Amino acid sequence: MRSIRLLSGYDMPTVGLGTWQAKPEEIERAVSTALECGYRHIDTATNYNNEEAIGQALKKWFEKGGTRKELFITTKLPHFGNRPSDVEKFIKLSLEKLGLDYLDMYLIHLPFAFKFDEKTGGAATHEDGSYVLDFDTDPVSVWKEMEKQVESGRTRSIGLSNFNEEQILTVWENAQIKPSNLQVELHAYMQQKSIRDLCKKYNIVITGYSPLGSPAAKTHFETKYKYTLEKSPDLLNHPVVKDIAVRHKKTAAQVLLRYLLQLDIVIIPKSSSPERIKSNIDLFDFDLSEDDMKALSTLDEDTNGRIFNFLFFKGIQDHPHYPFKNELP
Ligand SMILES: NC(=O)c1ccc[n+]([C@@H]2O[C@H](COP(=O)([O-])OP(=O)(O)OC[C@H]3O[C@@H](n4cnc5c(N)ncnc54)[C@H](OP(=O)(O)O)[C@@H]3O)[C@@H](O)[C@H]2O)c1
Repeated sequence: MRSIRLLSGYDMPTVGLGTWQAKPEEIERAVSTALECGYRHIDTATNYNNEEAIGQALKKWFEKGGTRKELFITTKLPHFGNRPSDVEKFIKLSLEKLGLDYLDMYLIHLPFAFKFDEKTGGAATHEDGSYVLDFDTDPVSVWKEMEKQVESGRTRSIGLSNFNEEQILTVWENAQIKPSNLQVELHAYMQQKSIRDLCKKYNIVITGYSPLGSPAAKTHFETKYKYTLEKSPDLLNHPVVKDIAVRHKKTAAQVLLRYLLQLDIVIIPKSSSPERIKSNIDLFDFDLSEDDMKALSTLDEDTNGRIFNFLFFKGIQDHPHYPFKNELP
């Protein structure tokens, strides 16, 4: 497994298994399959409600002789825990569910915060079901607590997710321990050129989420939040991608993933299918040519290609830390 060196000094495997929307009953099998296929990096979050099932798969892996030091486990502080007083509580909960003594990467999942509901253990809601936003906390003070988690040994590295450039710089300038990883949406329709340049300058490794264009996201947003995405990319059937795939005797998914790897992006494709889990890491026996790379770069629609604008959280655009205000109509 190839890895990339983080600012923290640790190595992050360049391909990980994404686990969003993987139900607990399928995730245990998916993680076990992934570990058998050579994955050593697993991406989860408090919000995905699957840390316990992932912990079960890891336990079986350890029983079969797998070792902790081979693995790279990322999880995330939920937006309803985005306040200094909650960071330690949530990282401890994640460690307990995963059955681990330490994490490899702990990320602030989102820059904005929701109030926490002690009774449900999740985000507080109003009577109409909308979420109660929390305006009394900020990413820099949360970051100070993230640093303490490194000092206590609960996580080796810390980073950010879904922060915009200004927010990344604010944390960077106020950090004793610098963020070594940024996890953002990144795929052929939204190639994040500007954030890539920023992270290169500061030596922050980027993990690209939804590297296949998250084909199931649209339906999920409609079902869960009654929110309809204006655009929903179908990258896997794009003629440019399919044409390159045919020439290399690879699948469209493998071309999309290899493209990001060649841009030095860490990728975390999600799959629950054993065949797709296997093929999504079978990326190291071919190279995309300069012409292939150029052709794929033209698919970039910049922020118009964004799937995760988080507007499915009703009213979120009014939060002072909503990251994509400049993209609103
Ligand atoms: N930080 C954040 O806010 C954030 C947001 C979104 C995602 N993420 C992370 O990034 C991971 C990946 O993103 P994602 O899950 O949104 O999208 P994705 O990885 O781009 O796409 C996953 C979808 O594609 C299907 N798929 C997987 N491999 C395939 C293949 N080879 N051919 C055809 N279809 C394939 C999967 O279905 P099957 O399971 O049926 O194969 C699933 O529906 C997440 O799981 C999560 O860990 C983070």
